[in-house]
Amino acid sequence: MAKTKVSFFCTSCGYESPKWMGKCPSCGEWNSMTEELVQKESGKSSAVLQALQSYDKRAKSSPVPISEIKPGDNARFDTFDGELNRVLGGGLVAGSVVLIGGQPGIGKSTLLLQTAMRYSRTVLYVSGEESEEQIQMRASRITGDGSNTYIYTETNLASILSEAVKLKPGLMIIDSIQTVSNDQIESAPGSITQVRECAAQFQRFAKETNIPVILIGHITKEGGLAGPKLLEHIVDVVLQFEGDQNNLYRVLRTLKNRFGSTDELAIYAMESGGLREILNPSEMLISQSTEELSGTAVACSVEGMRPLLLETQALVTPTVYGTPQRSATGYDSRRLSMILAVLEKRCGLPFGTRDVFLNLVGGIKISDPAIDLAVVVALISSLQDIAIGKNICFAAEIGLTGEIRGVPRIEQRTQEAARLGFDTIYISKYSPSIKVKGITIKTLARLEDLFGEIFG
Ligand code: TYD
Ligand code: MG
Repeated sequence: MAKTKVSFFCTSCGYESPKWMGKCPSCGEWNSMTEELVQKESGKSSAVLQALQSYDKRAKSSPVPISEIKPGDNARFDTFDGELNRVLGGGLVAGSVVLIGGQPGIGKSTLLLQTAMRYSRTVLYVSGEESEEQIQMRASRITGDGSNTYIYTETNLASILSEAVKLKPGLMIIDSIQTVSNDQIESAPGSITQVRECAAQFQRFAKETNIPVILIGHITKEGGLAGPKLLEHIVDVVLQFEGDQNNLYRVLRTLKNRFGSTDELAIYAMESGGLREILNPSEMLISQSTEELSGTAVACSVEGMRPLLLETQALVTPTVYGTPQRSATGYDSRRLSMILAVLEKRCGLPFGTRDVFLNLVGGIKISDPAIDLAVVVALISSLQDIAIGKNICFAAEIGLTGEIRGVPRIEQRTQEAARLGFDTIYISKYSPSIKVKGITIKTLARLEDLFGEIFG
């Protein structure tokens, strides 16, 4: 008879402790311990292990020289989605476990159902969240063949694995890992013990059968991926699906990839027929109007490996009530405060008595510091109501002393700007000097130089 016991787990890193603690000794997070019922596994082999036995061909594995290991024939599978292939590092690796996290309603189920219906081999789509009819309704909106897609609405881990062993699919999708539970563990589905146990079993299943598994994970209120950080250690690839639900665009980012770079980014548009890949994001992120308006400037950023031109818009108005308002969408608001302080101190501009609103077009969050200069130009342009030319773009970081600093991949940024028809790009004087056909490269050393160059 198995013994029941209670343990405390840190919701942030998965640290286990027999008693409650205010601060997790492992990751230092405060107030993150939660109580969970755990039951140690009894001696007999679990249903999960039995389900896997037919595949247990490598049970007696022994050390092998690395030079004698043969690469698999189909090491990577095409997902028939260029953007997804890109963030995965060139397709799905056989036997890998991919975790996709994101907020509710962002489009995780849509993306994976779409992938399932396009996949060239059999796909087992396990859903613990929606009924068969609901999935069918969704599928009818999405373009794709779908004759290879099997839907299984089940939450029991052992049943899922034994069906998967029978069907031998080319890909298994679990929607979502928080709904799956192992009935040998007493804690509730979605608890840390369950999520960790189930993810570990899927990982084991994937390694032994060579079937890739994609897990969908919910994001916690704090924005952490699938609750316990621990999941991120178990799986091979972690992708994050983000975006503003009221906006058309969605971004899929790589947070961890054992088989490729984490510098990748995919952009989709959510449309009535599912998610559409955006192959030329820059063209969408620059507003189409030809009119010259004050308060806008185009930044030349690089997200992941891709250059991305996007428009920054600022609105600066006199403050009516006491404290000036500052609001930034898509841009770090602390960084905005820093830039306003630098502008006030170094250039003597009166932002302290102005409300400031900043917006990156397209609702995409960008963390590249190279957009600083465009933000500064948009702010000054709105403050002084001077429109700047439509064919100018910017790529540089602003330092605390008001210096304009160089950013990496300047050549790539300039080439993208030239390709999109910009005729001038402003960069830092300290960037390596380059020449790109069809575009004038102008350099700035300090914020004050902007006044001679742009705001006459
Ligand atoms: P969903 O995939 O259910 O999100 P998640 O699994 O991440 O919770 O996406 C739900 C949203 O997507 C919903 O608000 C409607 C929208 N949607 C479309 O705009 N077009 C479509 O073709 C589909 C299937 C969904
Ligand atoms: Mg869903």
